[in-house]
Formats: sequence, structure tokens, C-alpha cells
Amino acid sequence: MKKIAVLVSGNGSNLEAIIRYIQVHQSYTIGCVITNNSLSRGILIAKEAGFATEILSHHDFSSREEFDNGLVQLLQRYDVDLVVLAGFMRIVTSVFTQNVKAINLHPSLLPLFKGKEAIKQSFESGMKVGGVTIHYVTDELDGGEIIAQACVSIQKEDTLESFTAKIHACEHLLLPQTIEQLLQENV
Ligand code: GRF
Repeated sequence: MKKIAVLVSGNGSNLEAIIRYIQVHQSYTIGCVITNNSLSRGILIAKEAGFATEILSHHDFSSREEFDNGLVQLLQRYDVDLVVLAGFMRIVTSVFTQNVKAINLHPSLLPLFKGKEAIKQSFESGMKVGGVTIHYVTDELDGGEIIAQACVSIQKEDTLESFTAKIHACEHLLLPQTIEQLLQENV
């Protein structure tokens, strides 16, 4: 069975969605979950579900490149087919991108609204739709080739909170399925 590694930094709701999906579909599995933040809820979720976990703190490295090198070495030990950044709040360098086939989940319709404030910027843009993008990870932040996108409507009655909830619900549907599809296509 094909294996992914999931990289998380915080809440881990997308990791949770992947775990729920693979419990039902059993189409792929998680080789390891890696975090740069030992306090992330994501790592607890992974442990509770019985997956291998690794904590690699960026504070223990003197540069982004050295951290990425540590990450690459860790990932090589698990021999996964695909690496999934699901709320991994680190900018990666070419040390990572040249050695690892990775995808990232971003809460906007890229190329619009790159960066950390994507949901708020979408909501305040005046557009009638926002959305979710899954793309390959390259050296350019939120800039790699787009793999999948889904739209989320922005209604008059939406608040930032309700729109944020819709974005996350959309992510939870799109990400596990897109991973499955990529693995079937032999990424
Ligand atoms: C998601 O909105 C994702 O698009 C962004 O970070 C958030 C992670 O959420 N990159 P969670 O940790 O999976 O709950």
C-alpha cells in the first residue's frame, strides 16, 4: 500500500480528515507525521491514531537550509511515496524541494492571496467566491503547479468565521481525495 508523510504545525484538522478518509477507504496509509511544533494538536491526533510521529524543531537548527536537510533525512528514513504539507507553517528551501516530492494545501484560489492571511484577504476581496488549492511545493511560496482547486461561495450573510469554517470543510473533502488520486496516478 502506498504511504504518505504528513507535515503539520498546528491544529491538524486536515490530518484528521485524512485519517478518517483512509480508515474508510483504505486506499493509502500514513508512514509518519512530522511536526516542527511539539505542542501541535496534529501530533497528538497522529499518536492517538497509532501513526509514527517525529518532532523536528526548527529552533534546533541554525538556518532554514539546515532544518530542511534534517527534514529530508528524516523523510528518507520513512520511504514514503508523497509528502503532504497540511498546515505546515514553514517556508521551505530548495534543499527540501529538490529532494522531496511534496504537495501543499492552501486556503485560497491560487494564484490569488498567497501567504498566511489568505482566508481573510479572500473574504475581504469583494469576490463572490474563495476556495482551496492543492499544489506542488516549489521554492516559490504557494507558487507551484496547481493540482486541484475547489470553490467556496462568499454569501452576504457570511462572516469571516462562517467563511473560514466553509473553507476548512472544503479542505477536508478535497485533500484526502486528491492524495488518493495522485497516488493512483503514480505521482
Ligand atoms: C489550512 O487552512 C491550510 O490550508 C493552511 O493551514 C491550515 C491548516 O489547518 N495551509 P489544520 O492544521 O489542518 O487544521
